[in-house]
Amino acid sequence: MSEGGRPGPRRRLLVRGVCAAGLLAIASGLSGCGGRQSILAPRSQQTHVISVLWWWMLGAASVVFFGAVGLLALGYLRRRSSGLPVLGEREGVVNAIVIAFGIVIPLIVLVTLFGASDIYAIRFSAAPKSGSTRMTVQVIGRQWWWEVRYPATGAVTANELHIPAGTRVQLVATTADVIHSLWVPRLARKIDMIPGRENRILLETPDVGTYLGQCSEFCGLQHAHMRLTVIAEPPGAFNSWLAAATRPSPATGGAAAGEGRALFMARGCGGCHQLRGSEARGTIGPDLTHLGSRSTLAAVSIPNTPAELAAWIRDPQAIKPGNHMPDLGLSGGESQKVAAFLEALK
Ligand code: CUA
Repeated sequence: MSEGGRPGPRRRLLVRGVCAAGLLAIASGLSGCGGRQSILAPRSQQTHVISVLWWWMLGAASVVFFGAVGLLALGYLRRRSSGLPVLGEREGVVNAIVIAFGIVIPLIVLVTLFGASDIYAIRFSAAPKSGSTRMTVQVIGRQWWWEVRYPATGAVTANELHIPAGTRVQLVATTADVIHSLWVPRLARKIDMIPGRENRILLETPDVGTYLGQCSEFCGLQHAHMRLTVIAEPPGAFNSWLAAATRPSPATGGAAAGEGRALFMARGCGGCHQLRGSEARGTIGPDLTHLGSRSTLAAVSIPNTPAELAAWIRDPQAIKPGNHMPDLGLSGGESQKVAAFLEALK
């Protein structure tokens, strides 16, 4: 405050700056709630419950926040002197206000929200009761991709989780290395992937669609590029996909593909990758039995095209630094042949 009791230019500038920063923070915070990974666009019963709870929490937090700021502003505007106030006979009223707004109301708000989240939301997103689901999918976190297994058929894929729409699916999550956390915001809550432990969750959506998921527990250099897609299909389409994914690696034609296959086997790719039904039986990297049928590579980092795949084989560290695939020293032409072979594996 300047001498005359009016705010000086510097003070006004400071107030405007604080207001602008606040609005920017709110806008950027809310922008994170939209998009393809939004809990505010739920597509399952569990995430619907979670988003309702989120809106109630936002409402309660807003009332508390703006109420506190309003009282603070009122106190500032109605101040009488720069020192501490002399309470006198109003001490009882002031104490009652402090007890009501500082203890009683926060206690009621916190207990209510805790009850709502604990009883209401957690009950809805708990692990499914055994025998209540129609099928089981196993997802194994790895640095930095997702192994997806269908135990009933033996199908194995990576980074793409196909499920039939309108079907109760039990998802069993674990990890092969460090702790990860699987989160598909529009379909289910987060589920931690902990070494030596299997966590279960219900994955069920009535809506056909493609949903983006994300690792949500820091797991190393490429944590941010550890994404997956959940593809919910009509049951008929899903059954066809599963039948195809269960079959062994197809025999492929074409001269480039034939040379690519020979290079794949000769350069030791099979030490890390599996082509079911062939001599390539590695289990360190993703199963490539039907790689050509996937839409992305490297955990949704790049599109699955022959050019992108060839560039990845040529120099995997350039595209996703720190990943566990070594540079095998293939030339550009050799990489293209291996890519042509793998892309033919539909
Ligand atoms: Cu896996 Cu973060």
